[in-house]
Amino acid sequence: MLQRPRRNRKSEVIRQMVQETHVSAANLIFPLFIVDGVNQKTEVSSMPGIFRYSIDNLLREVEECMNLGLHSFDLFPNIDDSFKDKYATESHREESLYLRAIREVKKNFPESCVITDVAMDPYSSDGHDGIVENGEILNDETLEVLGKMALAHARSGADIIAPSDMMDGRVGYIRKVLDDHQFTNVSIMSYSAKYASAFYGPFRDALNSAPKFGDKKSYQMNPANQREALIEANLDELEGADFLMVKPALPYLDVIKLIKDNTELPVAAYNVSGEYAMIKAAIQKGWLNEQRAITEVLTSIRRAGATAILTYHAKEVLLNKWL
Ligand code: PBG
Repeated sequence: MLQRPRRNRKSEVIRQMVQETHVSAANLIFPLFIVDGVNQKTEVSSMPGIFRYSIDNLLREVEECMNLGLHSFDLFPNIDDSFKDKYATESHREESLYLRAIREVKKNFPESCVITDVAMDPYSSDGHDGIVENGEILNDETLEVLGKMALAHARSGADIIAPSDMMDGRVGYIRKVLDDHQFTNVSIMSYSAKYASAFYGPFRDALNSAPKFGDKKSYQMNPANQREALIEANLDELEGADFLMVKPALPYLDVIKLIKDNTELPVAAYNVSGEYAMIKAAIQKGWLNEQRAITEVLTSIRRAGATAILTYHAKEVLLNKWL
């Protein structure tokens, strides 16, 4: 035998020398849930180890992460039903929980990177990502609301705007609104290929944002489709996106790879709530080794082609020095 691939696996030093993929703190984005009030920290029951924080505790959490070398955060608000309406008006009200949270994080940690979620669902009395009329999700009317949200986020100090709504034309629309208001420096990380997935369940528990009727299949993508992700990714690139995101991550590694092979832009992947819940449940049962399972998941998402990973595991992997 001339070739014996095992020779390159014979010691830890050689295995590390030939390792092709690495995960580091710089690649990770930590999603954080925010709730109104003071001194609140409540665990999401379907996401052990993940909490909803009031702004005071959010700042403590961000500080701990910053000290661990974790500098990027994606914020999501849990909004009381009394603030919800058909047009998600609360999403661009100056004194809303979300805009206050962005301002506070950027004021206290100017060197952090704050990513903000643009979509109507946490604020919508219908629980949908767009304006609903006669059971239909209106596309172009929704763009106006998304533009107002994105502008409010930029004014509050957001570094990157992440539209997660899947309306057609939203990246171009938001880019124009930002540019028209001199926010040419604010980036857009587009949820380009966002699938109508079963794996968002725990997130909707965390935010109390489940659709009040129907499902999201008329705007989020069919899990059976791969080529269609290229249509979405190409459009987002043409419309001015700075990052293209695939979501969920683990069941869609082929889509991450496909988009990576077809763009020069950095690709992001969202290791979503249901993926986290699944791993944690198996670990709680003693069925998986925690460190090995979690680092294998993150490495695989990087190997498929993701530059950045949005993951609920971000803090624990650094706290435990697993990378
Ligand atoms: C909403 C949004 C969702 C997630 C991020 N933004 C859920 C949905 O589309 O219903 C899911 C994230 C996760 O499951 O971790 N626009």
